[in-house]
Amino acid sequence: MANKVTTAIFPVAGMGTRFLPATKSVPKEIMTLVDRPLIQYAIDEARAAGITEFIFVTSRGKGALEDYFDLAPNLEEELRRKGKKDLLEVLEATNMDSGAIAYIRQHKALGLGHAVWCARRLIGDQPFAVILPDDVISAEKPCLQQMVEAYEETGGNMVAAMEVAPERTSSYGILDVEREDGNLLDIKGMVEKPRAEESPSNLAVIGRYILSPSVLRNLDEMKQGAGGEIQLTDAIAAELDQGRKVYGYRFAGQRFDCGSKSGFLQATVAYGLARPELRDDLAAYLKDIVPNLA
Ligand code: UTP
Repeated sequence: MANKVTTAIFPVAGMGTRFLPATKSVPKEIMTLVDRPLIQYAIDEARAAGITEFIFVTSRGKGALEDYFDLAPNLEEELRRKGKKDLLEVLEATNMDSGAIAYIRQHKALGLGHAVWCARRLIGDQPFAVILPDDVISAEKPCLQQMVEAYEETGGNMVAAMEVAPERTSSYGILDVEREDGNLLDIKGMVEKPRAEESPSNLAVIGRYILSPSVLRNLDEMKQGAGGEIQLTDAIAAELDQGRKVYGYRFAGQRFDCGSKSGFLQATVAYGLARPELRDDLAAYLKDIVPNLA
């Protein structure tokens, strides 16, 4: 049986240029979906999957992210004094155990693979998860939990997989599939951002991974991949060359690309409609405007 996965890396050092000018001063991960920052959705998903150690790979200008996970004793005291029990509970649910979070700096934005590699000294010789908070996944059973349960049977490496339109393969890491068994895909290759005509499939890697520590050693050896960045995809693909297993996992749920403006807006509508206290108002507004859309 595979070792338990208790550590997750959250690479949050990217510059978020697609959200400029907001990201001049607000880290993308602090931007709010309804009333919770993206990072809170990622943390909740990790906790549901049994993660107890949280490693953030940050960069210059991400101070608000670190502050978000501090306790807010004055605010809590004020809410207690005013008898605002509901809000107090909302706040307390975001508290993290002392010492559960570590922050590592990525000094240069050299890509996702490099960001993960920056956390290598905190990982040791255990499997670990990687969660990209930009990919928000709405699911009955949180995506990483689905993957951890599958991984307990398979071991190896596992990436979340989703079908994308053929013209979108050039935006993703794409899987070359050997065999399918239900939700599990046995992978024989991975290609970063292939053009549609060169793509081995339309199964894309989404921002959830369970990786073995050997991926960090591959990153050690890495040369720069597609786009001049150090690609995590290449380091996972190297696992196959070294005779280790990589599985794709077709998760149940809907993924929103909150790293893009359109995806963020779609997520805002979906998560807004999912909130009982907002649903009626928002649905009435949408019904009102939709017939008039060209
Ligand atoms: P993106 O490709 O979305 O890049 O990174 P970005 O910089 O965040 O956003 P844009 O494209 O400029 O708008 C995907 C994930 O990888 C992390 C990002 O923080 C995000 O979670 N990342 C990317 C790093 O941590 N370091 C990097 O060097 C690059």
